[in-house]
Amino acid sequence: MKISRRSIIAFCSGLAVVVAVGCTNQTPPVEGDTAADTNNSPSAPANAGEINLYSARHYDTDDALYNNFTKETGIKVNLIEGNADELIERMKSEGKNSPADVFITVDAGRLWRAQEDGFLQPISSETLEKAIPANLRDPKGYWFGFSKRARVIVYNLGKVKPEDLSTYEALAEPKWKGRVCIRSSDNIYNQSLVASKIEDKGVEEAEKWVKGLIANFARPPEGNDTDQIKAVAAGQCDVALVNHYYLARLKQATDAEDQDVAQKVGVFFPNQKEEGTHINISGGGVAVNSPNKDNAVKFLEYLATPEAQEIFANQANEYPVVSDVKPNPAVASFGEFKESKLDVVTYGQKNPDAVKLMDRVGWK
Ligand SMILES: [Fe+2]
Repeated sequence: MKISRRSIIAFCSGLAVVVAVGCTNQTPPVEGDTAADTNNSPSAPANAGEINLYSARHYDTDDALYNNFTKETGIKVNLIEGNADELIERMKSEGKNSPADVFITVDAGRLWRAQEDGFLQPISSETLEKAIPANLRDPKGYWFGFSKRARVIVYNLGKVKPEDLSTYEALAEPKWKGRVCIRSSDNIYNQSLVASKIEDKGVEEAEKWVKGLIANFARPPEGNDTDQIKAVAAGQCDVALVNHYYLARLKQATDAEDQDVAQKVGVFFPNQKEEGTHINISGGGVAVNSPNKDNAVKFLEYLATPEAQEIFANQANEYPVVSDVKPNPAVASFGEFKESKLDVVTYGQKNPDAVKLMDRVGWK
């Protein structure tokens, strides 16, 4: 049975508890629902407890992940969904009594902010340290990346040849005047990209680049990454900077219009002769007042297993962080590329500078 998020919110007075367990921990499990029922699996230990998972990821396919975890460990997953700001706000108002065990969101910049604001606690896990490359997690164990996203150039196949493209920096050259689409500066993906350039080249160089990029905008920023790809396909702009999975999603769409969009654009991985294409993560950490800390750590360790990586990353069209797990066919069709190995922690550390810079140069 699919329960709409809106109806659950109404029913649970402000909570969006989506997995089978009802509105609070005290509510008995709903008969016939998956996560609760899997506790009866013969292989799962009895009374293994639960975790309260605050997740800003919104993929139906993640349910399979939680059910498998419950099947294997006997630990029930109570899923509380919302956007990252809502979940942070909720943890803030719950204070020390917050039932949150695990917080999951996208973008290292956001994870870093959650850490800075005191919502996460450091954990030490050899399993996670071994499985996840050091540049994709916090060095003190406050948060870990569980999937990767590449910020790529999408171009109009009729107007641009791949050999016209090279780097993010080159998009600031005069030849791209009036041809670039990108979403607004309040978007964390763009903030992290600018933060990475500040880390790499210093504020001055980064500012020069951003100024040039803005001068080449085809239109004032609007919409999300999908809208930028659609604008490229429609010829409103020739190139756009977007996260790769937005295009992977369009490529797999059943909707004829979306398929048409996907066929009109190509994907290009910038900075291949330089440091590599900008990589970000989605990830999570253990909440600061986690009442089920041991189970929370087990859950994070589970997310780094090959089985979970296939679901967690692939079904959302992301790149797995575990090297021996392959991306799904739509993503693999984009080809292999060199990734920037820049430490994603710097996206958080340089975020305030990035926001100031973007504001200063008038990126709307
Ligand atoms: Fe996204």
